[in-house]
Amino acid sequence: MTEQTPGSATPAWTRDQAATITRRDDATAPIIYPPASTTDSENHIWDTWLLRERDGSIATPGGYRVIFCLSASAELLPGKRHDVATIRYYYSKDGEQWNRGGVAVEPDEAFGSRQWAGSAMLDDDGTCYLYYTAAGESGEDELTYTQRLACASGGTVETSGQGLSLQGPWEHEILAEPDGEWYETEDQSRGMIYTFRDPWFFEDPADGETYLLFEANTPVPEGSDACGGDAAQQEFNGSIGIAHSPTGDPTDWNLQGPLLDAVGVNQELERPHIVVDDGQYYLFTASHVHTFAPGLSGYDALYGFVADDLRGEYEPLNGSGLVLTNPANAPFQAYSWMVYQHRDELLVTSFFNYYDFDRPSLDDVALLPENEQMRRFGGTLAPTVRLGFGDGETWLRGVLDHGHLPTEDEELPPVEFAERYGTREEESGYSYR
Ligand code: FRU
Repeated sequence: MTEQTPGSATPAWTRDQAATITRRDDATAPIIYPPASTTDSENHIWDTWLLRERDGSIATPGGYRVIFCLSASAELLPGKRHDVATIRYYYSKDGEQWNRGGVAVEPDEAFGSRQWAGSAMLDDDGTCYLYYTAAGESGEDELTYTQRLACASGGTVETSGQGLSLQGPWEHEILAEPDGEWYETEDQSRGMIYTFRDPWFFEDPADGETYLLFEANTPVPEGSDACGGDAAQQEFNGSIGIAHSPTGDPTDWNLQGPLLDAVGVNQELERPHIVVDDGQYYLFTASHVHTFAPGLSGYDALYGFVADDLRGEYEPLNGSGLVLTNPANAPFQAYSWMVYQHRDELLVTSFFNYYDFDRPSLDDVALLPENEQMRRFGGTLAPTVRLGFGDGETWLRGVLDHGHLPTEDEELPPVEFAERYGTREEESGYSYR
């Protein structure tokens, strides 16, 4: 099903805006060193999301917070992990020590030959909804790259015994596929990497309406005059898609036109999600250095946009959209950032990706001997980064430990470099590097 999109033209991340991306000190995370122990010694993990309530607050069943991560055996060569990704969960009372819960989305029951990123919602009646990307077709011999938005629902979170566990049975269903008009199908794709993935549940606090955000691409037919007719630029056509639930049923979705697109700018706007503060909608997405269109250069980084309402005219944060990136001498140390609000700041979690590696392209990892590919891959939760935000800007404030994910009631240490919380100017002058 599709629905009329409120508003007219899709807000765009423009080439002029993206052309101003520079690695500012207050958008650059400090160097990450390997932690004493990883989140899960048996598995590589990447792409993390928290179990949330309908209104987006962090769920704490039985006093535990729960995270979901993509995972693959720690013995696997890290570059192969996307081909076998499985969603696991971990739980913690203090948000620092994570206990292994197990497989959240059973590959044998799920859609797709592997399951990619999503989100998770614990409804008021205790029903759990696990949104995921069905990548490929289950049972396929050769990997395909079809992507559909899927959900496992009907399970619950049990905290009666020791610890926490997810209990089925789960009902799996496909929620959405690209329509070919707002969202490119795989067949239409001319670009480098096709996307229709990463469903993110979102309730709009303005009116209680229910949405699903996702990563997609805007169809740009051959011969189109987009990007002044430049075919090479047109191949880079990332978008942030959205579907609406007419009833509030978390499994019933109608596609609407995209919230934002980046035609001629960037091919992949990954894992989109929103933080609403004081009537402002902060839309975050992760992207890569290699997915910028010809003539533009960016980084593996967290990018963000702000608007006055969900369907507003999104403007890039900090002018360019760049919110947080890696240091120049460790450009791939973290990826797949996920932002949530903690009181008057933003906390950003991500996974520890490749370290001790400063080549310009991640492709060069494959040139390393396999033992070095293994050694230099983090595959665990990265340190949580603290950001100040306001007036269309964000700035680095400090860093917490690897995998420290505080809830609202937790007092954080004072920021290291400011007497008082204030504006970017008042906190500037600080550099980690
Ligand atoms: C981001 C990402 C997601 C996808 C996953 C697959 O790290 O590209 O968009 O769901 O990785 O591993």
